[in-house]
Amino acid sequence: MNLFRTTLLAAAAATAVLATPMAMAQGAKLKVGLMLPYTGTFAALGVAIENGFRLYVQEQGGKLGGREIEFVKVDDESDPSKATDNVNKLVKRDNVDVIVGTVHSGVAMAMAKVAKDTGTLLIVPNAGADAVTGPMCAPNIFRSSFSNWQPGFAMGEVVAKKGHKKVVTITWKYAAGDESVKGFKEALEKGGGQVVKELSLPFPGVEFQALLTEIAAAKPDAVYTFFAGGGAVKFVKDYAAAGLKKSIPLYGAGFLTDGTLEAQGADADGLFTTLHYGDSLGTPRDSSFRLAYAKSYKLQPDVYAVQGYDAAQILGTGLAAVKGDVSKKAEFAAAVQKAKIDSPRGPFTLSKAHNPVQDIYLRQVVGKENKVVGIASKGLTDPARNCRM
Ligand code: BEZ
Repeated sequence: MNLFRTTLLAAAAATAVLATPMAMAQGAKLKVGLMLPYTGTFAALGVAIENGFRLYVQEQGGKLGGREIEFVKVDDESDPSKATDNVNKLVKRDNVDVIVGTVHSGVAMAMAKVAKDTGTLLIVPNAGADAVTGPMCAPNIFRSSFSNWQPGFAMGEVVAKKGHKKVVTITWKYAAGDESVKGFKEALEKGGGQVVKELSLPFPGVEFQALLTEIAAAKPDAVYTFFAGGGAVKFVKDYAAAGLKKSIPLYGAGFLTDGTLEAQGADADGLFTTLHYGDSLGTPRDSSFRLAYAKSYKLQPDVYAVQGYDAAQILGTGLAAVKGDVSKKAEFAAAVQKAKIDSPRGPFTLSKAHNPVQDIYLRQVVGKENKVVGIASKGLTDPARNCRM
């Protein structure tokens, strides 16, 4: 081989290497930034989401779209004031290919802003902030969970149908609580009921006594609530201890009793909630998921585990279509948009705003289970108000 030809071949090889995107370089792992709460009232929720995500990746042999997965983790502490710094660390310092997070709506909104500004792929595995698939919607932002409006609206219809006219609401004063109550109120009013008092306390407070006294004095027909994690455990126990469970029926978005029943014990018995998952679906898909989860983690899965699992399914669907090249954003989004996600909750699709279109179950606590007793709302689509995409 002459010198000229050797030089040409070397130049061609160098060009080929340069043309290969960094992220796709031979054998490069796909970096997933997990931004979740690992401390505080939502710590168990963060762990369940990570477990679910890892389970799906493990079932795919450790690879999605042909690329091995590497995790970088940040504890967001459910603290919105640290959220922008935390997400910027993942995007700018760690150069992650995709961010998966989080639980808390206020933190998720800061993440969505950074994702929108930088074009980084974001999959939200819990936080229901309506804005994420509303005014902040974007081609690179997806949600595997729900909007806060969805379980709230479904429960408003249930409570109205039960004939309750005057309802008091109680929740944490932040996006998730406010939006859950708003969805509930919208459906309740449509059904002829009204919210007579809206009570709240700052997140993640658990000093419920004064508010429970107000509920007792107001004597409503029913109470609607949004609490989750450690706060939900304490609220259900305090509600029963105040003697209210016997006199004023308590309803909630399903987070009130999901992943919490061991700790709530008999105080949760009989409670009705609405959610996109339940413990007794009994479908082959859910049964095999539950078995695999229990085998891997020696724990029963909950809604958060399912949402983590489905976040990985969404990522896997998009990556398969682009052969692992996350820079092909339009093709990634188109593939996810037309997919049916084979979730343990039941199959779902994503709306144009990238939020699940899904059945919302009516569940009742029986022992240690959120038993599905019906479908409160079939194929419920979030209205995606002010999403322009
Ligand atoms: C939220 O902040 O969006 C949220 C937190 C826990 C459970 C459900 C929603």
